[in-house]
Amino acid sequence: MRSTPEFYIGAPVDPVDLRFREAFLAELWQTLRTGHVVLTAPRRTGKTSVMDYLRDHPENGFSVVSINVQDLTHPADFFQVLLDGFHDAYPDFVRDQLAAGWKLVSGVLGKIDEIGVGGFKLGLRESDPNWRMNWREHGDTFLAQTRKTGARILFIIDEFPDMLLNLSREDERLLREFLAWFRTQRQNPAPARDSIRWLVGGSVNLAGTLDALGLVDRINDLEDVSLPLLTDSDIETFVTEMLGGRDVPFDDDVPQRLIARLGRPIPFFMQMATQDLYRLWKREQRKIVAADVDTVFDAMVVGSAARTRLQHFHSRIRQYYADPKRSIAYALLGQISVSDSGLRRVTLLQETERLLADLGVTLPAHERSQMFNQLLLDLENDFYIVEGEEGFYDFASGVLKSWWRKYHA
Ligand SMILES: Nc1ncnc2c1ncn2[C@@H]1O[C@H](COP(=O)(O)OP(=O)(O)OP(=O)(O)O)[C@@H](O)[C@H]1O
Ligand SMILES: [Mg+2]
Repeated sequence: MRSTPEFYIGAPVDPVDLRFREAFLAELWQTLRTGHVVLTAPRRTGKTSVMDYLRDHPENGFSVVSINVQDLTHPADFFQVLLDGFHDAYPDFVRDQLAAGWKLVSGVLGKIDEIGVGGFKLGLRESDPNWRMNWREHGDTFLAQTRKTGARILFIIDEFPDMLLNLSREDERLLREFLAWFRTQRQNPAPARDSIRWLVGGSVNLAGTLDALGLVDRINDLEDVSLPLLTDSDIETFVTEMLGGRDVPFDDDVPQRLIARLGRPIPFFMQMATQDLYRLWKREQRKIVAADVDTVFDAMVVGSAARTRLQHFHSRIRQYYADPKRSIAYALLGQISVSDSGLRRVTLLQETERLLADLGVTLPAHERSQMFNQLLLDLENDFYIVEGEEGFYDFASGVLKSWWRKYHA
């Protein structure tokens, strides 16, 4: 039997320890047979872990090149980082095949020994003083060279929406040009006949981001795949194996209580709570009971480890929502956080009307309700709230709800 996996608190799960994703991975490879994919999921739910697994266990004859583009601000950087990632993963292939007949890159590779570690990317950057002007031409050549080798390559681009947001902040025209270029590349040749596949992913809702810029049609060819939630039975297996595998005695109702306290199962909080139970046992050397789960969750909400993660949910509204939506979002979430089991849609609408009046925003009735509908949709898409039974809207994550109530209500 496999040994009990490590706890992962924040870092992506190492591919050898990844569980609960077999069916999803099989489905993902199936989708990639004929199309390009955008993988969406909230923060801290396991996107990068899945991407790392794909990278280490490629199927269908693919080789995988995986990069993170969170901080990039220009298409030129994108291609340099992608080429560098390619070289890190397959240095011989890049030298012998990809660079064959491509002076820009073969020239750099010829000098790489002199420059040492990190030399390839630095060399690339210096290979053309006008990289930023010529990004399109270099991008075209890069992909043409890749296709010419005949090798099947899956490019995984993590935190892609962040890069797009960076581009739009630098220069919205550049974002438009890059998206147009990228779309053309994904369609010529059609994916089924292309040796290249793209899997882009990130925590920010890509469609929502581009919709606000009127650019959502630029990505509508991507197959939208969402990372499934862990099921109650996954969580039960996790708790049972992580504690049982470490010889921690616990009552039968402990996994159920943990499921209830999690609400929407953000795997990161599942890991943290289970690790805290384990630590409790190490300290006190006694059987773990359901009340311990409550203690652990209450402590987690006020603890510093969770706070840095949770704070993101709060600040991203300031970053991505424009007023008056921003103020209304904060007000509605504050009210939902102090409710027992969510608030009705009509209640939220009335509250929105009142806030708009307070803010001195005068809009015709149909625009007010349009804005309200859009706001609820945004909050759902960004994984703050879910519509439960009978039109009650409540926090998706139990941890987030408790934290919001404590610090922001
Ligand atoms: N399959 C899994 N089983 C158990 N825990 C998991 C699993 N996948 C992810 N996690 C937990 O979620 C945390 C975050 O994982 P990962 O970095 O892959 O998520 P992410 O969605 O890429 O996060 P971010 O939004 O920060 O980029 C891990 O540290 C781990 O605690
Ligand atoms: Mg990630």
